Amino acid sequence: MPSPISGRWNSSRGPVAANAAVTRPADAAAAACGSAPSSARRQTDGRAPSPRAAAAKPASWFSWCRRRPCSVQSGQIYRQLRDAILDGRLRATEPVPPTRELARRLAVSRNTVAVAYDRLAAEGFLRSRVGAGTFVQAAGAAPRGAPAASPLRPRRVWDDLAVWPRPMPGIRWDLRAGVPDVRLFPFEAWRRITAGVLRPSGLRDAASAGDPAGLADLREAIARHVGVSRSVRAGAADVLVTSGTQQAIDLVVRVLLEPGDVVAVEDPGYQPVVTLLRAAGLRVVGVPVDAEGLRVDELPGAARAVYVTPSHQFPLGMPMSLPRRRALLAWARRRDAVIVEDDYDTEFRYGGRPIEPLQSIDEDGRVLYTGTFSKVMRPVLRLGFLVAPPSLHRALRLARYASSWHAELPAQAALARFIDEGLLARHVRRSRRAYQARHERVAELAGRWSRPVPAEAGLHLSAALPAGTDDAAVARRALDAGIGLFALSEFAVTGPAAPGLVLGYGAVDEAAIDAALARLERVIAGRA
Ligand SMILES: Cc1ncc(COP(=O)(O)O)c(C=O)c1O
Repeated sequence: MPSPISGRWNSSRGPVAANAAVTRPADAAAAACGSAPSSARRQTDGRAPSPRAAAAKPASWFSWCRRRPCSVQSGQIYRQLRDAILDGRLRATEPVPPTRELARRLAVSRNTVAVAYDRLAAEGFLRSRVGAGTFVQAAGAAPRGAPAASPLRPRRVWDDLAVWPRPMPGIRWDLRAGVPDVRLFPFEAWRRITAGVLRPSGLRDAASAGDPAGLADLREAIARHVGVSRSVRAGAADVLVTSGTQQAIDLVVRVLLEPGDVVAVEDPGYQPVVTLLRAAGLRVVGVPVDAEGLRVDELPGAARAVYVTPSHQFPLGMPMSLPRRRALLAWARRRDAVIVEDDYDTEFRYGGRPIEPLQSIDEDGRVLYTGTFSKVMRPVLRLGFLVAPPSLHRALRLARYASSWHAELPAQAALARFIDEGLLARHVRRSRRAYQARHERVAELAGRWSRPVPAEAGLHLSAALPAGTDDAAVARRALDAGIGLFALSEFAVTGPAAPGLVLGYGAVDEAAIDAALARLERVIAGRA
């Protein structure tokens, strides 16, 4: 007999279609016994199976079931359910299918199932509640994992890579770079909009649903948003919606680069992208930065691509000067290279002259511009975008399709409305005011023990420590004191990084900043 916990079961509406979106815990219960094959189910009307059907499934469980007496069939159902409970496939409190439904699926009499259930109830495995159904009562083992021994091994490249950042559970003050303040997020408005787009009529833009480049509404909204807020030159057709910057860069790699190609990145630089490039088999070369940003004169001649954060260098924080931007564009033209511009948080600018993105002064179509909603909205959304020249549209759309088709549609539709209704702009304005006050406070307090790197934007700033300081050890001691933060050395790519700390202020309000930085000062002085 097949397992009684296979198939799908929805206790209020009966069996649900195999492609239904919701799988209930009780589905597992039906799977332990299995659903009758449709050919077998047709036979429950009392007609004899056709000779062809019988020949096609000579040893099917159905015929097996029909040939055996009820007690044998009950015993089978009993054993399969008991085993499923004992080895953890069915967990305590999960509902099992009603006897009538399981009997119909297995093409046995209802009494056969009832006998098995009675026995399981008598032994404490199941419990019935009047009007509610029958539930698993006993807690079994943890579900069995995949076989521990396997001859399969990942490619060598994965041995040298790690997920960054490492978790920091239980921290009291969260000074990690890049974490926005969830308390500033307009949850009510977001809830209203997401509830609206989940309605059957909620997708205004159904024609473009499933387009790997993203919902047309959202692409238009993003093109307008980056045009107004950052002077990026983009029409909706140039925008590709991605699952964050990380995926945008993954697509660029797939479309433009070959394993073994040299890619230059800022050093220190953004680890997740460095990991992505290395995992793709590219040769990553770190290029030093100074007060004006990337040292263009140090770029390796062989580089096919350069990944930069010109508006707010990550992690140090200074913007790239205009002469350097021009030099970088000229270099890329001479070398026939591509520039990937990661503009991850410049919605939050606190003064100084607005910085033109490289993309807006590029006359040569060599700059691919990526942005993210991880900072202005929330990182959990995993939405971002890539602005690319028309020559790459087709390949990028195909690469997006090949990688995971498209971003989640309700989230895309909700974000389009959020932008169209002016809520994103309002949220950015409000958050900017809050972050600016924090930025100033952190710079002032960190200035007591360090030289903060001058920066005018974003959710973090970097504070240099005296040469020779083991900044990783300082970060570890800070963690022991309840402060989560990153050391600058964690962002070293090829060269050693000057010691320092990266101080994020997205997740801490001003009162917490005072307490956290006072504590940090004691840690640095060796008094905590
Ligand atoms: C330099 C940089 N780029 C991009 C991002 C955002 O990446 P994603 O959109 O993949 O969340 C971050 C987030 O911290 C970042 O620091």
